[in-house]
Amino acid sequence: MKPRELKPDIYSIGAVDWDRRLFDELIPLPDGTSYNSYLVKGSEKTALIDTVDPTMGDVLIKNLNQLDIKDIDYIIVNHAEQDHSGYLPQIIDAYPDAKVVTNPKCKALLRDLLAIPENKFITVDDGGILSLGDKTLEFIYAPWVHWPETMLTYLREDRILFPCDLFGSHLATSDLYVTDEATVYESAKRYYAEIMMPFRTTLQKNLEKIKDLEIDLIAPSHGPIYANPKFILEAYRHWVLDLPDNTVVVPYVSMHGSTKEMVDYFVGALTERGITVKQFKLSNTDIGKLAMTLVDAATVVMGVPTTLAGAHPLAFYAAYLVKVLRPKLKFVSIIGSYSWGGKAVEQLAEIISSLDVEILDPVYCKGFPRTKDFESLDKLADTIYKKHQEMSL
Ligand SMILES: Cc1cc2nc3c(=O)[nH]c(=O)nc-3n(C[C@H](O)[C@H](O)[C@H](O)COP(=O)(O)O)c2cc1C
Repeated sequence: MKPRELKPDIYSIGAVDWDRRLFDELIPLPDGTSYNSYLVKGSEKTALIDTVDPTMGDVLIKNLNQLDIKDIDYIIVNHAEQDHSGYLPQIIDAYPDAKVVTNPKCKALLRDLLAIPENKFITVDDGGILSLGDKTLEFIYAPWVHWPETMLTYLREDRILFPCDLFGSHLATSDLYVTDEATVYESAKRYYAEIMMPFRTTLQKNLEKIKDLEIDLIAPSHGPIYANPKFILEAYRHWVLDLPDNTVVVPYVSMHGSTKEMVDYFVGALTERGITVKQFKLSNTDIGKLAMTLVDAATVVMGVPTTLAGAHPLAFYAAYLVKVLRPKLKFVSIIGSYSWGGKAVEQLAEIISSLDVEILDPVYCKGFPRTKDFESLDKLADTIYKKHQEMSL
């Protein structure tokens, strides 16, 4: 994408990656992504805010050339992860007088990850400012969104917040700004679920920290810019702070159909009780979709057969995912089938033992489910209904 002006002397000069389908060798990117980089030209100094993924460095260089940028004074690094910092060494080579401006923790990481020389850095404190002449950058520490060194940059005069990954969305689009809020909501929620949700409690503090800032634009490092910051700030407040919804997520796996029969019956029983259910077959699901439903779910019930004396391996993966994503879940249970014995239930309970959730009595049947097993599933559905009601969900 060519340079695009946000406001006078402020440009978006990053790259749109339409073709990328996987991030961190883990996260599906159904709609691609972008690596946003911004240029701010003050009356005296010029600052580049974050760089791009090394695979797309040529776009950044072309854009700087197209804007005829001969000198960069400061390269602001909000976050050391390589999809933003990875092209920093080449930018330093191209602009040898530029200083890298970041906090001490980020500096240490940039030294470790990219071997940036000590003498290239200017370190800034939380609340510190940097004058570009008629424009002032203010730095706001926001550790653990989602790495320990993250900070946000606020451009005072133009009231633009550059929060790097915070509020981002993995969405390749030719739009500079959010035009279709429904589409961006989906991508931003996926991003939150996969990247930010494990840090929900620190996010609460960081949202508090920026609540009084006057913001016209939020310009994140992935996805389009928010000209209506309220849209994404309110979405985050809901995801981070509010109670979960009256929703049960049912990730399941079934080799010969017994667990599937239980899942189908159970999903029907929950639905009859007015509960929203999201069912995922673990052998072919998009884990991003599963993560997104965990943002709002009050309960997870895993459907798992016993396989080689324990839980089916796909259930281990799903349980581990729930454990590390740390959603605002309240209740967990397990349903499934076995033939001669094993420790499937105990193993899954052990994986999620660090979560602050109530474990509801599992329903584990021998072979294909019979009348008494369906009755147990009804009882579990009743319990979940009651528990949700007690929480006013
Ligand atoms: C590869 C394989 C390994 C199994 N290992 C066990 C086991 O260790 N213990 C057990 O009780 N049943 C074991 N079973 C039997 C299944 O747990 C049982 O058939 C169950 O009803 C399968 O549920 P499903 O139809 O939902 O896959 C195994 C089945 C398969 C195919």
